[in-house]
Amino acid sequence: MAYSQKLMEIFRNPKNVGELPDANAVGRVGNASCGDILELYLKIENNIIVDAKFRTFGCASAIASSSVATEIIKGKTVEEALALTNDDIVKELDGLPAQKIHCSVLASEAIALAIQNYREGTDGASQEEKMV
Ligand code: FES
Repeated sequence: MAYSQKLMEIFRNPKNVGELPDANAVGRVGNASCGDILELYLKIENNIIVDAKFRTFGCASAIASSSVATEIIKGKTVEEALALTNDDIVKELDGLPAQKIHCSVLASEAIALAIQNYREGTDGASQEEKMV
């Protein structure tokens, strides 16, 4: 199993790590097979994601995927963020080993869940994580 150099660089120096105290959209997803968990915090204003942070209890691929995903969606509309796929994240990481693709799915699912919670009028902060 080989990680790209880009993935290793992002893993060693991830962006947007932490909680967002004024988040109005939160998505918590967990992977049933490996037990890793990603908490995504979004601040949405006028349909634009003005800030995004994450806490990931997981592997290098999940942490790098979370970093890349938050970087991509900042400044984007909610619809543009929803259109982000795990394939986009994998490309941004210069690829992932086949057995690590599910780690990128965690990030795209967290975005979808956070926005769903936002649209349903709950920030998602008190919800159990969704297993993917
Ligand atoms: Fe499960 Fe990476 S091994 S998220």
